[in-house]
Amino acid sequence: MTIFYFTATGNSLYIAKSFPDSTLYSIPKLLKEKNFSFSDEIIGIITPTHNFSTPTLIRLFLSQASLKCDYFFTIFTCGGSTLGALDEYVKLTQKNNLTLNYLNKIAMQDNYLKFWDMREQGKKLPQKKTKEKLEQILQDIKERKNYKPKSNILYQWLSEMTYFWCSNFISYHKQFHIEDSCINCNVCTQVCPVDNILPSSPKPLYQDHCIFCLACTHHCPTHSITLKGEKSKERYRHPAISLKEIINSNQD
Ligand SMILES: Cc1cc2nc3c(=O)[nH]c(=O)nc-3n(C[C@H](O)[C@H](O)[C@H](O)COP(=O)(O)O)c2cc1C
Ligand code: SF4
Ligand code: SF4
Repeated sequence: MTIFYFTATGNSLYIAKSFPDSTLYSIPKLLKEKNFSFSDEIIGIITPTHNFSTPTLIRLFLSQASLKCDYFFTIFTCGGSTLGALDEYVKLTQKNNLTLNYLNKIAMQDNYLKFWDMREQGKKLPQKKTKEKLEQILQDIKERKNYKPKSNILYQWLSEMTYFWCSNFISYHKQFHIEDSCINCNVCTQVCPVDNILPSSPKPLYQDHCIFCLACTHHCPTHSITLKGEKSKERYRHPAISLKEIINSNQD
C-alpha cells in the first residue's frame, strides 16, 4: 500500500502511520521533487481539512499526479466539522481523472488557533472517538469497501466559497508576528512545508507564499510566533509524533 500525506501538527501523519505494510510519502516533498508517478494495488491520501476544504498542497498534488491503482482512498483528518469538503473533494478527483473508491473523515484535535484554545480542545478529545473511527476505517479499507459520504448542496457551496475567499482575499503571511523572545533556532523554517520562512537575524522572515498550515506557530519552542486573533498561547503537536518527524516530512 502506498500512502501520501500532508501534516502540520502530526495528526495526519499519525493516521498515515496506522496503516500496516504501507510506504509513506510526504506530499510537500513530492511537490518539491516533482515526483508524481506512482503505481500500487492500493493508494491512499491522508490530509488535514483546511477552511472546510481541501488544502492547497493536496490540490496541487492531485492536479499533477499520475496514480495507477486498483483501489484509491482518502481520509480527511479534522476537528469535527467539514461542511461540504468531502463532496468538493470528490469533484476534485473527478476533475483530475482519478477514480475514488473510499472517502472518510476522522475527528482529532483541532489545531486551528483562531477558533480554539488548544488546552480546551484537548478536553474534547474523548467525545471525538478517534480510536474507534480509525479502527472502522482500517477495517473498511482492508475489506476494500466502496464508500463516499454525501452532504448537501449548500454545505458544498459553502466549502467552495470559503476556499475561494481564503485563497484570494487573505494575506496569510501578514497574520503572524514574531516576538522578541525568539531564540533564532530556525525550527519554524524547518517545519514549513513550502519554504516560506527565510532564516535571518535576529528573527526569521516570512515570505508571501504561506499556505496557512500553522506548523511554524505550533512547533516554535518558545511560543514566540503569535497569530492574529489566536485564542491562547497554548500550542499542539500530536503526542505520538516527534518534531523530527514533522521536519523530515516537510523539508528536503
Ligand atoms: C487553517 C486551518 C483551518 C482548519 N479548518 C478546519 C475545518 O474547516 N474543519 C475542521 O474540522 N478542522 C479544521 N482544521 C483543523 C485540522 O484540520 C485538524 O486539526 C487536522 O487534524 C490537523 O492535521 P495535521 O496535524 O496533520 O496538520 C483547520 C486547521 C487549520 C490550521
Ligand atoms: S521557531 Fe520560534 S524561536 Fe525558533 S526561529 Fe522561529 S520564531 Fe524564533
Ligand atoms: S509560514 Fe507557517 S503557516 Fe505558512 S506555510 Fe509555512 S509553516 Fe505553514
